[in-house]
This record gives sequence, structure tokens and C-alpha cells, in this order.
Amino acid sequence: MKVLGISMGRKNQNCDIVVKQALMAAEEAGADVKFINTMNMEISHCRGCGACSAGLSKGKQIRCILKDDYLTLENEVLEADGIILAAPVYSIAPTGQLVNFFGRFGAAHDLAGATMEQERREKEGIEPLDPRLFKKHYVAYISVGGAHTPNWVSMGLPNMYMFGMSTVMKTVGQIDAYDMGQRTNPVFDKPFMDNVAGLGKHLAESIGKNFDDVSWYGEEGVCPVCHNKLISYTKGKGTEVECPLCGIYGKLSVEDGEVKVSFSDAEKKRARNTLAGLYEHQYEIHGMMDYVKRNMELHKDDFQDLIRPYMDYKPDYKN
Ligand SMILES: Cc1cc2nc3c(=O)[nH]c(=O)nc-3n(C[C@H](O)[C@H](O)[C@H](O)COP(=O)(O)O)c2cc1C
Repeated sequence: MKVLGISMGRKNQNCDIVVKQALMAAEEAGADVKFINTMNMEISHCRGCGACSAGLSKGKQIRCILKDDYLTLENEVLEADGIILAAPVYSIAPTGQLVNFFGRFGAAHDLAGATMEQERREKEGIEPLDPRLFKKHYVAYISVGGAHTPNWVSMGLPNMYMFGMSTVMKTVGQIDAYDMGQRTNPVFDKPFMDNVAGLGKHLAESIGKNFDDVSWYGEEGVCPVCHNKLISYTKGKGTEVECPLCGIYGKLSVEDGEVKVSFSDAEKKRARNTLAGLYEHQYEIHGMMDYVKRNMELHKDDFQDLIRPYMDYKPDYKN
């Protein structure tokens, strides 16, 4: 069982220390461990070129064509069974390096899309996709912030969740490690470090289990699927609320002065980080192409006239 620790913080600072603490506990629980600090890795953002999916129809593997350190990290993530990821909070959200990573990793490795492609390859006798795309991955998140209250880390853990979403990694638990400023150094806070070790041990012990049998380590959120605290509400929708991460709808009520949010089992089963939820999105995308074809046909005579003013308009264009 391979557990990979990823720290996106400064070398030898808070993220490094918490990841190493969790890794030590995972190792004690029997895992082979590996540690990567990504601070000086070059991980650029997705250019939307579509090369990763375009190659599929030609029998190629899913591969980003940008040649930077993303490819190294992608390989390590696919190779691992379990991942402990710590990211620093910069302006209430995780470091942009993480967003760059999952922008390239998530959509390209969408499990529903990969499953459909694998089925096609089996039928047509084409070389199969990398089997590591289909193995079960387990992940634990630690969001690390300097602020004294959780008020300044609100988008940390919710954004980190996107790291494993499209590949249906099982999130086994998470820690909102704010207050690093007053704590001064995590090693001064034994209960905190024990909690981090508990998360590492729990990750190692969860690997190999059926996802439904994995218990949750950490604070309970509002959403029963992702355990985060975000809820969105659209005016005029009555008591309906949504978990913006999982894309599932629930009902809000007030009981004895307490806000309650409940989600039906049917909604939980269509959460974005399930294969069913991802298929829903795949069908939505496939359906979209019918509209694109229809609209392009409708505008075949005036498309060039409509688009030309925008192509010709180049204020401040220096290149
Ligand atoms: C540019 C910048 C923005 C930051 N913004 C926040 C923030 O919004 N909330 C917070 O709690 N901490 C913030 N911090 C503090 C870091 O999250 C904190 O120092 C953390 O320990 C960094 O991780 P590291 O020690 O592993 O490098 C910020 C730090 C930097 C450099």
C-alpha cells in the first residue's frame, strides 16, 4: 500500500510538517510512504487545447501536452493508493498551484469519460487506457492557514476537495489547520499534531476498503457526501438548497432555532464525486453537441458576419 504525501507549502514549514506527521503515522500503520514538496515545481494552468481528449480517438493515452512538472506529479498521484495533501491558504483559498494541478488532472481523468472510452477500446480491440485510472484512490486533505479564526480559510478545504473529485477518490477525512500564526509552529501543539497523526493512520487503515465502509475522520460538515460546510441558495427556490461541490439538492428547515439541511438518498447517489454523478455530466456534455451542430447549421450563412467584428476588434493588441 503506497501513500504519497504532497505539501504545496514552503520547504520545512507548516504544510511540510503536517504532511510528514501524517505520513509517519501511515508508515507505522504499514504503508510505504513517499513525500513531495511541490513549491518549486512548475505546474502551469490548463490551456483548454483539448489535446488530452483529442488523442483518445486515435488510441492514445490521456496525456497533457504541456511539458512541465505536472506530468511528474500526475504520475505519482496515479501510482499511489492513498494521498495526504496539504495546501497553504492564500486569500481564503488554496494556492493557485493546486487549482492549476486539478484543472489539468480532473477533467482529463474524469472516471465516467475514461470508463466509456475503456469500454469502446475493449469492443474495438484498441490498446486499453492506463489501468491506474481505474484503481481506487483514497485521499485526506489538510488546509493550512495562518489566520486565528476559520473566517479567513473558508474556501480552503472546499477547493481542495476538487483534487480528487473527477477521479472519484474516496475522501477519508480532512483537517482545517487554521491558526498557524498564533500556534507559531505546529510542533508546539501536541493535541493538534496527534489529530494530524490520527488522519494519517486513518488513511492507511482505509485503503482497500469498500468506499461505503470507510468512516469519516474530522469535523462533520453540512453536506453528508463531501462533509464540507458550503450551501448555496437561489432566491425564489423555496427551501431548496444545493451543495455547490457535490451538485446535490437538499431541503433547509429551522427546528428549535437550529438550521437543518437534509438530502435524500437519491440525491446523495448522484453527487458529482460518484460514477453516477459523473455520467450525468457526460450525458449533458454529449447532448450539448446536438445543440452546437443545430446552431451552427442555423447560422451557416451569417456566422462569419456575426463573428468578424470581434476578430477584427483589437484594442491594446500588441503582439
Ligand atoms: C500571499 C499570502 C496570502 C495568505 N492568505 C491567507 C489567508 O487568506 N488566510 C489565512 O489563514 N492565511 C493566509 N496566509 C498564510 C498562510 O496560509 C500560512 O502562512 C501557511 O502556514 C503557509 O503554509 P506553509 O507554512 O506550509 O508555507 C497567506 C500567506 C501568503 C503568503
